[in-house]
Parts: sequence; C-alpha cells; structure tokens
Amino acid sequence: MLFLLAVGLACVDCHKDLVERYARTPMANSSGAVNPALEFTGTVESTTRYEIARHRGKLELRWPGGQAGLDFFVGSRRMGRSYVYSDNGFLFQVPVGYYSTRNQWDLAPGYEHDAQPDLNRPIGPECLYCHATGARAAKGTWNRLADPAALHGVSCERCHGDAPSHDRLVNPRKLPARRRDAVCEQCHLAGEVRLIQPGKSLDDFRPGQNLADYLEVFVRPAGPESMRVNGHAEALAVSRCRQRAGDRIWCGSCHNPHAAAVTYREMCLTCHTRPHREEDCIACHMPKARAYDGGHAVFTDHSIPALPTRAESRPGEPRQLLSYFRGERASPRNLGLAYAELGSRYRNSQWVEKAWPLLRAAAQSQPRDPALYTRIASILAADGHLDQAEQYYRRSLHLDPDQYDALTGLANALARRGRDAEAVEARRKARAMVSR
Ligand code: HEC
Ligand code: HEC
Ligand code: HEC
Ligand code: HEC
Ligand code: HEC
Ligand code: HEC
Ligand code: HEC
Repeated sequence: MLFLLAVGLACVDCHKDLVERYARTPMANSSGAVNPALEFTGTVESTTRYEIARHRGKLELRWPGGQAGLDFFVGSRRMGRSYVYSDNGFLFQVPVGYYSTRNQWDLAPGYEHDAQPDLNRPIGPECLYCHATGARAAKGTWNRLADPAALHGVSCERCHGDAPSHDRLVNPRKLPARRRDAVCEQCHLAGEVRLIQPGKSLDDFRPGQNLADYLEVFVRPAGPESMRVNGHAEALAVSRCRQRAGDRIWCGSCHNPHAAAVTYREMCLTCHTRPHREEDCIACHMPKARAYDGGHAVFTDHSIPALPTRAESRPGEPRQLLSYFRGERASPRNLGLAYAELGSRYRNSQWVEKAWPLLRAAAQSQPRDPALYTRIASILAADGHLDQAEQYYRRSLHLDPDQYDALTGLANALARRGRDAEAVEARRKARAMVSR
C-alpha cells in the first residue's frame, strides 16, 4: 500500500484503478529507499572484491577494509539499477550496480578503472530530476536531500501538474503539440548538451508550460549521424513518420503511461492504411539495439527506419550541433556554452575555439549570468590566464555562492598562483556543499 500512497495519494480516491496500474510501472518505481528484502545479494570481482549482503535490516556493500550502506536506488531494474549511499543525508554514487539483462551485480559505469573503492562521487540534482519527483537539494548543498522521504519515482504531478484545484490539472493529450511533447521531454530528451536557460530553474517547470523557456537542448542534425542518437525524443523527431506526418505522431500515440499497452500494428495502420506486410511492423521497423548496460543507451530504435540502421548506440564526437527547440536560432550564449561543454568532454580545443567568441559576446550583452562566468573562468584557467580566471570565478560566485564547480575551480586557480590560504578557504566552502 505504501507505494500507492507515494505516487498518487491525492488522486487514489477517485482514480483508484489508474493509480494502482500506474504504481506498477517502471516510471513510478524509478527511485526510492532500498528495501533489503526485495534486493539481490552477490559479489563483484574487480581490483577490489565487493560483497553485497543483507545485514541488520540494511543492504550493505563490503570490501576489504570498508563498508557502506546501499540506502537508495535509482532505476526500476527493468534494465538495471544504480545505488546511492547516504552519508548523513549527503548522497553518493556506489561503485556497483545491478544489471537485470545479465541477472548480476557488476561495476557501475565509470568505475571500471578505479584501483580503490571511490565513494566520493556526489549524486547531483539532475539525476533525481528525471528519476524522482520533487527531490530537491537542501539549501547551500549540492547533494543533500531536503526531504529524503520524497524520493519515490515519477508521480502524477510530473505529467499533470500540481495545481491545488482539479480544474487546473492538465491532460497532456489536450495540450497544443509543443507543450504536450514537452511533458515527456522533461526527462526523455537527453540531447548532446542540456542547458538551463539563464535565470531559470528546471524545478519551476510545470506541465502545460513551454519547456524551451527553461531548457536549451542541443542535438545532432538529422542525417546518418543521428540515426542512433541517445534518446527517444530525438530519435522520433528524425523519423520519416514524424517529419512527414508532423505532430499527429507523439510519444502518447504508442505509450499511455497508465493504460494497457497499445497494439502497435493498429497504431501504424492509422496512417499506413495499405500495409505491405501482415506481421507486426515493430519487429522490422523498430528493432532493438544493443541492450542497456549502464549508460542511457536507447534500446528500441525510435527513428522507425525502413531498413535497420547500424546498431551503434554510442556515436562518437558530433560534427555539428542544432538546438532541438530553435534549430539554428540558438542564442550565442547557449551555443557557446554547448561548444565549450563538448570541448571539455572530448578534450578537443576546436570546440573551445568556436565557443570563445560566442561566450565573450554573451558576457558583454548578458551580465549577471553565473553559469556563463564560470565557463569563461574555466577556459581562462585552462589557458593559464589565472588572474582573469579568478575575476570571472569571483563574479560568478558573487551572483550565486552555491556553485560547487565554481568554488573548486577558484580553489585550483588560487592554488596554482601560490595563494594557499585563500585556496584552502574556497576548497573548504566547496567541500561543505557535498559533505558534512
Ligand atoms: C474527488 C474526485 C477526484 C480526485 C481526488 C481527482 N480526480 Fe481527476 N477526475 C475526476 C473526475 C470525476 C474526472 C472526469 C471528469 C472530468 O473530466 O473532470 C477526472 C478527470 C481527470 C483528468 C482528465 C481531465 C481531462 O480534461 O481530460 C485528469 C488528467 C485527472 N483527473 C487527474 C487527476 C490527478 C492527477 C489527481 C490527483 C492529483 C486527480 N485527478 C484527483 C475526479 C477526481
Ligand atoms: C535527462 C533525464 C535523465 C537523467 C539526468 C538521468 N536519467 Fe537515468 N534514465 C532516464 C530515462 C528516460 C531512462 C529510461 C531508459 C532510457 O531512456 O534509456 C533511464 C534509465 C536509467 C536506468 C535503467 C533503469 C531501468 O531499469 O530501466 C538507470 C539505472 C538509470 N537511468 C540511472 C541513472 C543515474 C544514476 C543517473 C544520474 C547519475 C541518471 N540515470 C540520470 C532519464 C534520465
Ligand atoms: C509520465 C506521464 C504521466 C504520469 C506520471 C501520469 N499520467 Fe495520467 N495521463 C498521461 C497522459 C499522456 C494522458 C493522456 C492519455 C491519452 O488520452 O492519450 C493521461 C491521462 C490521464 C487521465 C485521463 C483519463 C485517462 O485514463 O486517460 C487521468 C484521470 C490521469 N491521467 C490520472 C493520472 C494519475 C492519477 C496519475 C498518478 C497515479 C497519473 N495520471 C500519472 C500522462 C501521465
Ligand atoms: C520526471 C521524468 C519523466 C517524465 C516526465 C516522463 N518520463 Fe518516462 N521514464 C522516466 C524514467 C526515469 C524512466 C526509466 C524508468 C526506470 O526503469 O527506472 C522512464 C521510462 C519510460 C518508459 C519505459 C518503461 C515503460 O513503462 O515501458 C516509457 C514507455 C516512458 N517512460 C514513456 C513516457 C511518456 C510517454 C512520457 C510523457 C507522457 C514520459 N515517459 C514522461 C522519466 C520520465
Ligand atoms: C501519424 C501518421 C503515421 C503513423 C502513426 C506512422 N507513420 Fe510511418 N510514416 C508516415 C508518413 C507520412 C511517412 C512518409 C511516407 C512517405 O515518405 O511516402 C512515414 C514513413 C514510414 C516509413 C519509411 C521510413 C523511411 O525512412 O523511408 C516506415 C518504415 C514507417 N513509416 C513505418 C511506420 C511504422 C512501423 C509505424 C507504427 C509503429 C508508423 N510508421 C506509424 C506517417 C505515420
Ligand atoms: C510509433 C510508436 C512509438 C512511438 C511514437 C514512441 N514509442 Fe517508445 N517504444 C515503442 C516500442 C515498440 C517500444 C518497445 C516496446 C517493447 O519492447 O515492449 C518502445 C519502448 C520505449 C521505451 C523503453 C526503452 C526502449 O527503448 O525500449 C521508452 C523509454 C520509450 N519507448 C519512450 C518513448 C518516448 C519518450 C517517446 C516519445 C518521444 C516514444 N517512446 C514514442 C514505440 C513507440
Ligand atoms: C518482415 C519485415 C517487415 C515487416 C513485418 C514490415 N516491414 Fe515495412 N519494410 C520492410 C523493409 C525491408 C522495407 C524496405 C524495403 C522495401 O521497400 O520493401 C520496408 C519498407 C516500409 C515502408 C517504406 C516503403 C514504402 O512502402 O513506402 C513503410 C511505410 C513500411 N515498410 C511500413 C510498414 C508497416 C506499416 C508495417 C506493419 C503493418 C510493416 N512495414 C511491416 C520490412 C518489413
């Protein structure tokens, strides 16, 4: 009963069947407190030998010389599950995860090359934005939950709104197409780069609003390169069906989050009235790509190709970026930040060179933008311009003092200039954001 209360307490009296059905879906079970009785135990052999075991009503990770609680989970285990360790309410990623496709525990992605167990990687707010509802970081921290009891999957309000009066709840299907699609794009549009619009917080977005006012998402332009993009919304957007039939086809054509599954063939036949085959269209036109193995790889090909595309679910470095919402009309600020992000992700200075003039122009026309100043500072620091880097870090922190990356960047810049006392102070502030 507890899980029903979690996802639909305010609705269960009148929408009982629907709440019960929804409560069993992967989305409703996409995060929460670990219940040891419902978890598997096991071992992982790597440079360290890990054991996952139940102990005194808790699930624990043990290794020679240490142990940590597996306190929260992320992922319904439809494909896999990540775990979170809570150190006095500060949340950290755990180096192992459960892989349902292989029925076994293994190292979590990104931990394969560690010689020592690393329990110092904070679980940031963006992870919980997609896997939970209303899980906010406590003020002044990056990874401490304001309310740990709030960690329980995706609930009704993420798609219907949280208006106090029922009249003002929204039915996504009845919204204008762009706002309708936005309901799913909150979480299903990962893109190459996702940026928060200046002065905005994603926590303020409500179903029915325009997501582009809050978020800029850069994707690869349609073409062979994007055929195996890493997200359902982007893949559907490049399908011929969507490009030709437009807004008539959307996520809700094939998925209703709380109703019995549709018969895909019937859905296809609403447009393709004279099918060339009798069998189910999905087997050939929406084939499964490589199985989930830790990252956010698309599993079913949502670009609905005529002929199967090469199953390459992790494309390399993109050649170009396009704004998902604005096409070529992205602001210089956003384009500059996106290029800079690619530059650091792929360690490719060509992106940084493209970013630089855009960021400088934006800094002149768009003052009071902490994310912009932090990025400029980090580029300056990487180039050895430590004086200027310090100025930009300080400007950024003046506007928003609670920025972990700006504080650590400032600490590093100061340390490189031999200003140790100030560096220690900046590092202390940064550490206070992620640990007690
Ligand atoms: C007091 C009973 C009651 C409660 C509580 C209630 N609903 Fe409803 N809801 C209804 C009824 C009756 C309808 C169908 C009539 C209508 O369209 O208003 C409905 C319809 C809806 C619709 C479809 C509206 C449309 O325009 O298509 C949505 C969406 C909805 N409810 C969401 C919710 C959510 C989410 C909650 C919990 C936050 C909730 N309801 C709580 C009684 C209730
Ligand atoms: C932009 C939204 C978004 C962010 C951010 C995000 N996820 Fe996900 N995650 C998804 C979606 C959507 C799926 C469903 C499958 C897919 O799209 O590939 C998923 C699937 C998963 C799964 C597999 C669950 C299953 O069994 O189906 C795990 C585990 C997971 N995510 C963990 C994480 C962790 C840990 C983080 C943060 C470090 C994270 N995710 C960040 C949206 C997100
Ligand atoms: C992931 C998004 C999502 C979540 C979460 C969600 N819904 Fe819905 N809901 C939809 C969509 C989309 C529709 C429109 C379905 C259609 O008609 O195509 C809908 C329709 C409805 C309707 C209209 C009647 C119907 O059956 O279609 C009601 C009532 C409703 N939702 C209630 C709820 C309640 C209560 C919860 C929480 C237990 C909930 N929804 C969770 C997306 C969601
Ligand atoms: C708050 C973020 C969020 C929103 C909003 C959201 N999703 Fe999801 N969705 C997820 C996550 C996270 C998963 C992975 C769940 C897991 O397995 O842990 C997921 C999984 C799914 C799945 C695969 C699991 C299944 O039920 O078969 C489908 C399909 C899906 N979502 C459709 C939708 C549609 C359609 C909408 C819009 C009406 C939507 N989602 C809105 C976060 C979201
Ligand atoms: C809302 C209408 C609509 C729906 C629903 C729809 N399609 Fe399409 N689809 C189209 C249109 C329009 C085209 C373009 C036809 C053309 O170019 O002659 C298209 C093109 C295609 C193509 C050719 C792709 C290519 O790259 O050449 C395939 C394959 C296809 N659809 C399969 C499907 C399947 C399978 C489904 C169901 C899962 C489906 N469609 C659902 C409208 C739709
Ligand atoms: C034309 C039909 C169709 C449309 C439109 C569609 N999907 Fe799917 N989706 C499928 C099929 C088929 C599967 C595989 C279902 C299965 O394996 O049971 C699937 C699976 C998924 C999954 C599970 C992971 C995976 O890739 O197998 C997620 C998440 C998902 N869809 C999200 C979305 C989102 C978000 C949208 C809108 C951007 C969307 N889908 C639009 C047909 C569709
Ligand atoms: C056994 C595999 C298979 C099944 C099942 C299948 N298709 Fe196809 N389809 C293909 C192949 C291969 C092509 C490309 C070669 C060709 O044109 O025949 C294609 C091409 C298409 C095209 C684009 C070419 C055109 O005719 O305009 C559409 C649209 C399409 N299929 C729709 C469907 C729909 C709708 C269904 C389900 C009723 C379906 N297909 C079932 C294999 C299949």
